[in-house]
This record gives sequence, C-alpha cells and structure tokens, in this order.
Amino acid sequence: MTHAPVTLSVENITVTFGNDVPAILDLSLQVAEGEFVAIVGPSGCGKSTLLKVISGLLPARSGHIRLPASEAGHKPKIGFMFQRDTLLPWATVTSNIAVGCELSGMPKEQHAARVAELIALVRLTGYENHYPGALSGGMRQRVSLARLLAYDPDIFLMDEPFGALDYQTKIVMGRELLRIWEASRRSIIFVTHDIEEAVALADRVIVMSPRPGRLVASHESLFERPRDPRSLRGDARFGALVQTIWSELAIAD
Ligand SMILES: Nc1ncnc2c1ncn2[C@@H]1O[C@H](COP(=O)(O)OP(=O)(O)O)[C@@H](O)[C@H]1O
Ligand SMILES: [Mg+2]
Repeated sequence: MTHAPVTLSVENITVTFGNDVPAILDLSLQVAEGEFVAIVGPSGCGKSTLLKVISGLLPARSGHIRLPASEAGHKPKIGFMFQRDTLLPWATVTSNIAVGCELSGMPKEQHAARVAELIALVRLTGYENHYPGALSGGMRQRVSLARLLAYDPDIFLMDEPFGALDYQTKIVMGRELLRIWEASRRSIIFVTHDIEEAVALADRVIVMSPRPGRLVASHESLFERPRDPRSLRGDARFGALVQTIWSELAIAD
C-alpha cells in the first residue's frame, strides 16, 4: 500500500491539556489512499485525542496535519464514527441516514435512492421506519455506518466503533465493515483497545504507548484481501502478531 498517494500526514503532533504531561508527544503517521490503519494503545494514551486533532476538532500544541488535495483538486473529506451512536433519537433509520446525504451536499432528489441502497448494504432492510430506540446496539452501529457512508468521506475516523458491542456482534460488525470497505477502499483510521480486532481488520497496526502517547511500533499486515476476520483467528501468524503487540504494550508500561 506504500505506493498509493498519501491521504493524510500527521507530522510531529504534540497535544497538551493545561500544564499536565502531554496527552500526545511528537507523534507522526502517514496514511495512504485506501489504507486501513488500526491504532491500539492502553486506555488514556491519547487515541481519541489524536482523532480529534486529525479532524480539526482540537488544536495541537505543535506539529501539523496535512491533507493533500487529490488530483481532481478537492480536499479530503473527513467522517467520524464513535463508540456510542450519535443518531437522532426522534428520527427514523431512513431519516438518520439521509442526514449523511444532506451533509454531503447530494441533491435532495437523490437521497431516497441512496438511502435505500445503503440500508440494503448494511442489511437493515425492513427497519426503514424504526427509531434508534427500537434497535439493538449492533443495528444502531449499522445505521451510524450507513450515515457515514452517505456522507461519503475520503477518510473514515472510527473511534472504537464496535467497543460497546458484545463479542459476537463485534466480530460480525468487523466482517461487515471489511465487506463494505473492500468494495470502496477509502482510508480508515480505526481506533481500538482490542488487539485481535486491529490485527483482523487492518493493513497496518500502529501501537501507542501510555500517556504521553507516542508511537511504539507499526506492523504491516501479513494477510491477503479479501479476508474473513473470523477464520484468520485460527492462523498461527495471527496469534504470533497479537502476542508481539501484547509484549510491546507491556514494554511500554
Ligand atoms: N478535554 C480534556 N481536558 C483535559 N484532559 C483531557 C481532555 N481530553 C482528554 N484528556 C486526557 O488526555 C489523555 C488522553 O485521552 P484520550 O485521547 O481520551 O485517551 P484514549 O482515547 O486513548 O483512551 C487522558 O489522560 C485524558 O484524561
Ligand atoms: Mg478514547
């Protein structure tokens, strides 16, 4: 993937809150077009902070975020997905997904067709008129994913998107995400504290130290695409990489 143009370049970012120990210290990272990067690290190491800085929600004390314009000249669009869904509780599945179309600037008359397509893609057919409160956690995250796809960002920032789901649903959602991503290949930064999830999904796994968050290691994935994250878990190389990352997290302690 290193031959692909760079979509995002994080250069020597340091973030501080007040006079405390920095939350992030001199962190640099490049993400290529279409690359799926996972970031793992202990709780409080600055993963969410890093995503906020990348999206422009939070200023860095020093360093730069570079988002090179594409050949067509447009600036990359950034979309966010969180652990807790941020759906509108008073709006149906259809209306919630249409918010993404609205934000993308898509002409109104195209919304209905696009929303229908996305509902089928995330396997929510039959739930078009349900409200978020009537859906399971996994289904709500499917709606959030559909809304994100409707917004059509170039870079997906995903902050522990399946972290609140039970183990089985989390595995299913990981597989769903890969199925959808493999068809569109946008850049993803996927934050998780689940090492197995990171290794199963990503092209590259970045390991962060405890606060102040620094980059400890970066591992290129050994696994071909398309892949089935469920069957990968039985592969000896999968277990070996998970162990390596565990030991890096322990060393960083
Ligand atoms: N707005 C804030 N004000 C002060 N400290 C903060 C703020 N946001 C995050 N922090 C601190 O910065 C560190 C990194 O937080 P965060 O990025 O949320 O970690 P992670 O997502 O890796 O669990 C933590 O120690 C947290 O308490
Ligand atoms: Mg976090």
